[in-house]
Amino acid sequence: MYVSNAWYAAGFSDEIGDGLLPRLICGEPVVLYRRGDGTPVALEDLCCHRMLPLSRGRREGDAVVCGYHGMTFDASGACIRVPGEGRIAPSYHVRSRPAAERHGFVWVWMGAAELADAAAIPDMRWADDPAWAGHQGSMVVGCDYRMVIDNLLDLTHETLVHESTIGNAAVAETPATVEQHGSSVVVSRWIVDHEPAPLWRERIGPGGNCDRWQVISFVYPSNVVIDVGVAPTGTGAPAGDRSRGVNHMLMNVITPETADSTRYYWRSVRNYDIDDPAKTAAARAAAARIFGEDKAVLEAQHAAMSRFPGRPMINLPLDGPSVRVRRIIDGGIAGQTI
Ligand code: FES
Ligand SMILES: [Fe+2]
Repeated sequence: MYVSNAWYAAGFSDEIGDGLLPRLICGEPVVLYRRGDGTPVALEDLCCHRMLPLSRGRREGDAVVCGYHGMTFDASGACIRVPGEGRIAPSYHVRSRPAAERHGFVWVWMGAAELADAAAIPDMRWADDPAWAGHQGSMVVGCDYRMVIDNLLDLTHETLVHESTIGNAAVAETPATVEQHGSSVVVSRWIVDHEPAPLWRERIGPGGNCDRWQVISFVYPSNVVIDVGVAPTGTGAPAGDRSRGVNHMLMNVITPETADSTRYYWRSVRNYDIDDPAKTAAARAAAARIFGEDKAVLEAQHAAMSRFPGRPMINLPLDGPSVRVRRIIDGGIAGQTI
């Protein structure tokens, strides 16, 4: 159920340090840490002796000592010491995964190591751009990772799920356009000349009607970047001039844990009032509330789907982008080169 030849976020850069951080990625336990020179390491979090997670052990320089009987593994996963035994057989090793750091995340390649290509790391460049600032957060959602992607591709759910913040009837009633280029699917919606939803009114300030945009991009294998904002109607945003508007970029980085669990990371940045900590705090609080609303829906939906497996479901026009994206993911799972 996972695309293996792909990079997945294992954590935010600032979560991974000298300690041993356990994570589950595509069903595999992985332990993360940094070498003395700062470069990240990802090893399978299972000792090859009796399977104690290595994350329960300790660091010794760039190596990890298993917390049960003391087998010691270097950053490549090779065993370098077995207490009381001089011999180290070739089978004494744990799997290591290619790891790389970019855009404020540490990424791990879950496929064949020789295919790992840093150029395929998902593009989250707004995280590095000094013109944008904001906050980040993460949560574990009890559902299949593809349901989180569905949720983000179809923002018509804002109307009901987030009606007190970013939703209003105009979102569900405005059709979106869909474009696909290779593995990239882009869903765009422009809601012109309307009274913005409560949170957007707060962000743009008092005044007349606004034009609102939502440009949602699927980034292979399991991420969604959302470009959203509002600008006063008549100031040219639909034609490309967003200078009078407020713009947020929401980078949704989604890592499958198991069939029933997904780790969802977000970095939310804006390009206005970037030095205003009150605006950052407000955006952080809004994100926690909004994503909490999504989590409740997704977990209830996943519980029902798990109870009635195989029950047919219908597709509505709003599911079009998600159907395309699932086809792309299915291709990756089947081993197609994307
Ligand atoms: S379980 Fe790790 S050394 Fe025995
Ligand atoms: Fe949502």
